[in-house]
Amino acid sequence: MRIIKAIFLCLALVWCGNVFSQTAMPKIIEKDGRYALLVDGKPFLMLGGQAHNSSGWPGMMPGVWRSVKLMHANTLEVPIYWEQIEPQHGKFDFSIVDTLLTQARQHKIRLVLLWFGTWKNGSSHYMPGWMKMEPSKYPNITGKNGQPIDSPSPHIKATLDADINAFSTVMRYLKKADPQHTVIMMQVENESGSWGSVRDYSAIAQKLFEEPVPAELLKPEVLKALNVPAGSEGTWSKVFGDRADEYFQAWSIARFVGLVAAAGKKEYPLPMYTNAALRDPLTNPPATNYESGGPTDNVIPIWKVAAPALDLVAPDIYLSGSERILKVIGLYGRSDNALFVPEAGLSSDKSRYLYDVLAHGGIGFSPFGIDDNGRGLTETELKEDIKPFASDYEVLSPMASEMALWAFEGKIKAVVEHEDHANQTIDLGEWQAVVTFGTRQGGEKFQNKEPHGKMMIVQLGENKFMLIGSLCHITFHPTGKNTGKAWQYLKTEEGSYHNGTFKPLRILNGDETDWGGPAFGVKPTVVQTSLITR
Ligand code: DGJ
Repeated sequence: MRIIKAIFLCLALVWCGNVFSQTAMPKIIEKDGRYALLVDGKPFLMLGGQAHNSSGWPGMMPGVWRSVKLMHANTLEVPIYWEQIEPQHGKFDFSIVDTLLTQARQHKIRLVLLWFGTWKNGSSHYMPGWMKMEPSKYPNITGKNGQPIDSPSPHIKATLDADINAFSTVMRYLKKADPQHTVIMMQVENESGSWGSVRDYSAIAQKLFEEPVPAELLKPEVLKALNVPAGSEGTWSKVFGDRADEYFQAWSIARFVGLVAAAGKKEYPLPMYTNAALRDPLTNPPATNYESGGPTDNVIPIWKVAAPALDLVAPDIYLSGSERILKVIGLYGRSDNALFVPEAGLSSDKSRYLYDVLAHGGIGFSPFGIDDNGRGLTETELKEDIKPFASDYEVLSPMASEMALWAFEGKIKAVVEHEDHANQTIDLGEWQAVVTFGTRQGGEKFQNKEPHGKMMIVQLGENKFMLIGSLCHITFHPTGKNTGKAWQYLKTEEGSYHNGTFKPLRILNGDETDWGGPAFGVKPTVVQTSLITR
């Protein structure tokens, strides 16, 4: 059986396009609108964690590694700061990159480096001091009434040239320093956009705003994606009406970030993405309510055209409410955009969305702020902080490669508990799974206090499923060609995955399956089940 499985996995890898090879660069591949991140030539599910903003310093790193280990993460996202790397114009210091590479290799952890460059949360606070000292050469944007806005202008060639020079020097250095691909992806800038003004109203920006919309944005498919009638042309205001200011800002920032990414890729073509401070995806709010011009869901089509060097744009999930978050996951998991969540609250109400991200074929998930950030937490306190993700990562990390392949193949389905705690169903072809949220002891059922239940089902065969979940129970109903037939569990086993093989801990039967199907407690559990009709 083990040999058959190994052969199957090899065949599946070949089927995926013959692109897997041991020496390959990290890369993102696409097939039929689904994506996989390949690391060392194999599908890689990033179970990540992001360090706090000021933790990417040698003296802080022991605390960061402590969290990575306790969390069972396989990837660390950590910032690299422009102000630190180019402290003097044209003089680069890569000692921190060396430290990160050496330590990550010692800990057997992959890295995603976050380029805190021109934009960090809409501002330019990570520009080196020599740039900050010359505000007229590297200016911020100007608000509608001429007021200064704490956000860099995307229209300034000197700023763009400086960022391109710094980022491409970083990438050139990495190419030399990291032949073993410890770094698997680069984030270009951080939550670009502007708070406090929808766009730049300086004279330079105003002149550009009054020019015709660039031809690339007037293509029928782009206009359609932006809900603008085909054939529209002219100035930004004429084509985009009351969204013109925001779309102009999005285009201008995306072009800038896209050029920085392209210059970096020319040196060393790692996968690259940029992240979005989200807007409420349910209410179409005005751009004054959020960070304007960043890759929010409504301007993804603009970013795709303006920044083709980026492999994807990614949502930072700090919103709350299951409807809102599931909507975000759907909006960023597009056939032209691999789904990746580079930041999310490190809270128990966010971890369950990892399941939904996998069901959407996502390539990774990484909550923000995993280290104690100098708070002096004891190990017990830190464990409490990271528990929501640690318990899922512990179960998923031994099977991360299989998970990545199943996600790529579209074999995963998932449901997460909503605020109303209602049951949910999953269609599995000849079976329908009904997931009930809450815990169960014997015949007694208890509703979850918080809506934190979740269930993921991997379809291994017509009648064979891998179930991973917590705070819920599941039962099956025959449907399709099985409709109306009597059925029973052939075998239901609890266990875990190691080296590509399911290792059973025990067979679940009797009370563990008779009272409405297998139950999943607080700790996520892996269950493999096969069903038969009679
Ligand atoms: C989102 C940013 O991208 C992070 O760098 C950090 O500032 C968090 N917000 C803080 O919540």
